[in-house]
Amino acid sequence: MPATITAVTHYFPPDIYKNDYFSKYLDTSDEWIKTRTGISERRFLKEGATSDLIVPAAKQLLEQKGLSPSDIDTIIVSTVTPDHMFPNTAAVVQDKVGMPNAWGFDISAACSGYLFSLRTAASLVESGTSKRVLLCGADKMSSIMDFQDRATAVLFGDGGTATLVEMSDDPNYGILDNILHIDGEGGKYLKQIAGGSFKPASHETVDKREHYIFQDGQNVFKAAVKGMADVSTEIMQRHNLSHDDIAWLVPHQANLRIISATANRMGLSPDKVMINIDKYANTTSATIPSCLSEWKDAGKIKKGDYLVLSSFGAGFTWGAILLRWNMNV
Ligand code: COA
Repeated sequence: MPATITAVTHYFPPDIYKNDYFSKYLDTSDEWIKTRTGISERRFLKEGATSDLIVPAAKQLLEQKGLSPSDIDTIIVSTVTPDHMFPNTAAVVQDKVGMPNAWGFDISAACSGYLFSLRTAASLVESGTSKRVLLCGADKMSSIMDFQDRATAVLFGDGGTATLVEMSDDPNYGILDNILHIDGEGGKYLKQIAGGSFKPASHETVDKREHYIFQDGQNVFKAAVKGMADVSTEIMQRHNLSHDDIAWLVPHQANLRIISATANRMGLSPDKVMINIDKYANTTSATIPSCLSEWKDAGKIKKGDYLVLSSFGAGFTWGAILLRWNMNV
């Protein structure tokens, strides 16, 4: 029996920063940002850490499902902006929500973190190791953004989500298949240069701004278009699914042009693509689950719908998951 998603929630901090926020002090414009990326605004968490983006979503999820914190046996946090290098953010969330029966850990796979974590959560459930996994996809990207670099500052936002992964009650519904990849050759194009054991923090690394996101945008763009489109079409073909059979493409939200290219390759019309990059920018581990949560809340996903979840990120990491929705609206 496959595992499945039985609940998903999201939390975005209240403070909205429109594109004009950047054009007031950087050489950029609302028009450039919108046409090159599809982003109009994003949210930044003024005070607090990544765990503070997760806790409201986690509490909302438990309330929605009528569960007590003690019902959760495993916590996975997918993030590249942990509260600390250690302890892991799963421990912080365990403490803040008060989940006495859980073990847990963090997963770092950048913008593919949610897909890699969803597969991991599903495997834990399918093997019988875990019954209820609380998967928290969240990033406070503002904590590693260089607000003086127009090429990256305009691209990211902060957001938190919670997903409950349990056993499906039907073999035909749930997390049906995955194609996941990693290729370290791409590491040079998108990274946080300093702060790890390779280059510990020093006055020099701070002066050189090496704790912020470094990105060669064009090379990431080219690899993302190919990577996301390839795996998304491959997973459809593997299951003999045509564009008519797919209800939704749920892509990682890095750039509207990457999303459109992926949908084109799959033969999907734009009205079958979940897009919220315009409101939240790239929130890394929160993009895909926040789309699922918003579309679910709007009653736009039906039980039995085939969804293709698709991502590309630093590593490079990329992949697709085929999910048959198993929740009643
Ligand atoms: N405002 C105005 N101009 C900007 C700008 C900004 N915010 N950012 C970059 N530019 C400039 C560049 O300096 C360059 O100027 P030049 O021609 O004088 O050198 C010009 O715009 C074109 O830059 P380029 O990098 O070719 O733009 P692009 O069309 O590739 O768009 C990105 C840039 C970053 C939006 C795009 O490359 C991208 O989305 N890459 C992938 C990002 C991604 O997916 N990252 C996360 C992975 S999950």
